[in-house]
Amino acid sequence: MTKLTTKVAKKSISAAATARAAATHAVTDSTRARATATTPARQRPIQNPKSKIVPSEARSLTNPSDSAFYQPSDAFFHANRPTALTFDDVSLATRYSEILPRDADLATSLSDTLRLTIPIISSDMDTVTESRMAIAMALNGGLGLIHYNMPPAEQVREVARVKHHIHGFLQNPITIRPDALVADLLAKIEQKTYAFSTFPVTDDAGLLLGLVSGNVVKERYKTKKIADVMTPRASLITENIRAVAPDPIRAADTFFNNHIGIHKMLVVDDAGHLNGMVTSSDVERITAETKTLRKPARDTAFRLVVGAALSPIRKPDGALDREKILAHTAALVAENVDAVAVSTAHGHTAGVGDMVRLVRDAFPRLTIIAGNVTSAGGVAYLADCGANAIKIGQGPGSICTTRMVAGVGIPQLTALYVAAQGAKTAAAKNKNIRIIADGGITKSGDIVKALTLADAVILGGLLAGCREAPGEIMEINGKFYKQYRGMGSLAAMKSGSAARYGHDKNDATRKLTAEGIEALKEVSGDADDVLANLIGGIQSGMGYLGAKTLPALRANARFMRVSPAGQKEAAPHDVVEVSTRKQ
Ligand code: XMP
Repeated sequence: MTKLTTKVAKKSISAAATARAAATHAVTDSTRARATATTPARQRPIQNPKSKIVPSEARSLTNPSDSAFYQPSDAFFHANRPTALTFDDVSLATRYSEILPRDADLATSLSDTLRLTIPIISSDMDTVTESRMAIAMALNGGLGLIHYNMPPAEQVREVARVKHHIHGFLQNPITIRPDALVADLLAKIEQKTYAFSTFPVTDDAGLLLGLVSGNVVKERYKTKKIADVMTPRASLITENIRAVAPDPIRAADTFFNNHIGIHKMLVVDDAGHLNGMVTSSDVERITAETKTLRKPARDTAFRLVVGAALSPIRKPDGALDREKILAHTAALVAENVDAVAVSTAHGHTAGVGDMVRLVRDAFPRLTIIAGNVTSAGGVAYLADCGANAIKIGQGPGSICTTRMVAGVGIPQLTALYVAAQGAKTAAAKNKNIRIIADGGITKSGDIVKALTLADAVILGGLLAGCREAPGEIMEINGKFYKQYRGMGSLAAMKSGSAARYGHDKNDATRKLTAEGIEALKEVSGDADDVLANLIGGIQSGMGYLGAKTLPALRANARFMRVSPAGQKEAAPHDVVEVSTRKQ
């Protein structure tokens, strides 16, 4: 009985509040109308015709019924305490919109220097991101984080492969000496897995002596000297650096038009030293890119962007191996890596803090991603240590067992909301910290929800089935799969990632405790197709929320809890689905 009375009382209080809010709204509107009527026409501000049709976007914000039910993040997550929520527990309310999905702009940044055209990062996992995936990610506007379950020198080479992928204007093309043998060049191509076989020939001082082209880089000629098989300098058509420097790609486009059959534009200085090279296929790709909607993520030298995970390498006594960590980071920086990620299962620790500080002190301008944390304190701590972007997520991943094994972790949306409060603390100290939602994303709608609280998302499982992910495709009962395993799975930890979970892979006295599983993902096609679908979904969400940009998405987001019946209603139901997926 008491309960019933309380309920009724609450209801009438909120009805009164609603009525008051409605009255305020009406007063505001009528006051505005009166003011307009009494202001002489010439004193009235000139109105944008659009704003006349839509008196105020805020109208839907202040509609009392809407605001009583659909709450902004602060009110919503506080009201739901102490329950932690994840993607399927909530839904976003639609908002007044003037935005067509295709006009929604997905640009974001991970630091003041690293900008992406889509807010999607491929996870630094050994079944998700190596150079092939990183190239596909950057070509689509995102970022690939190359994993560290490989020798450090190999990871540096993987980064180099991405940075060399589209050679806009290659300032330091790979060259060969005239006294080398064709066999030496073949070995170099094999070892570095170069995808090209034409090389300028230079002396030790960098003077251009010739060009060796793919049709002579063959086993058949392996005992011949490069000098004997190259096209000599006198037969080469070159361009002067002073002429092409203002716009090398446009200059190359003209060059290839004028010199039919030549595919390399070699650029020299007045003394004949090689200063750079442009290839015709790159010019064609770059020209084609400008005509498509796809906007690759590039650095200031027009190279694709790429990131690499750093392992917290330790000495036998458990201390960070500072020399090794710094030497490895320096090698990545020398290859122009755009970001490093200090990836661990628990980032709010002295060890991770030390490592971030170590890298920050040595490389003041390098973008550092660090994690993982799920608390405001964790974000503020890593921000103080020098991180630019912080990964949020403990246990939400599709292959994770951390919550079962260790009993810790926070459902992802609440974790993101709480962690984002740490970014606000950092902002008060003039630090612009980015939040990255890492793990648990299974569909584009989850990304939209994550982006209402974060600057970008990290995907593992959604990309692991792509052709560009490392690993072979296997056929089981007529279906095609790729391996996908947690970095905390036994197999991955034995390949190197044990440190991420605070274990020692060489410790034979104890068994490693897995915090992830080994699994399979059905092959999902090319990363281009998967990303195009996800991007379309995010833009759709932004259209529904009237958000042209990601900051607008964050500002416009209004949340609602969803019941189990609501979750059922959200997916196709009571029909037999006809598969329209590409085989
Ligand atoms: P999704 O859901 O995209 O998650 O497959 C990928 C993210 O999961 C994290 N990760 C792990 N977490 N045990 C864990 O608890 C693991 O073995 C593991 N491996 C990866 C990681 O943050 C990744 O980006």
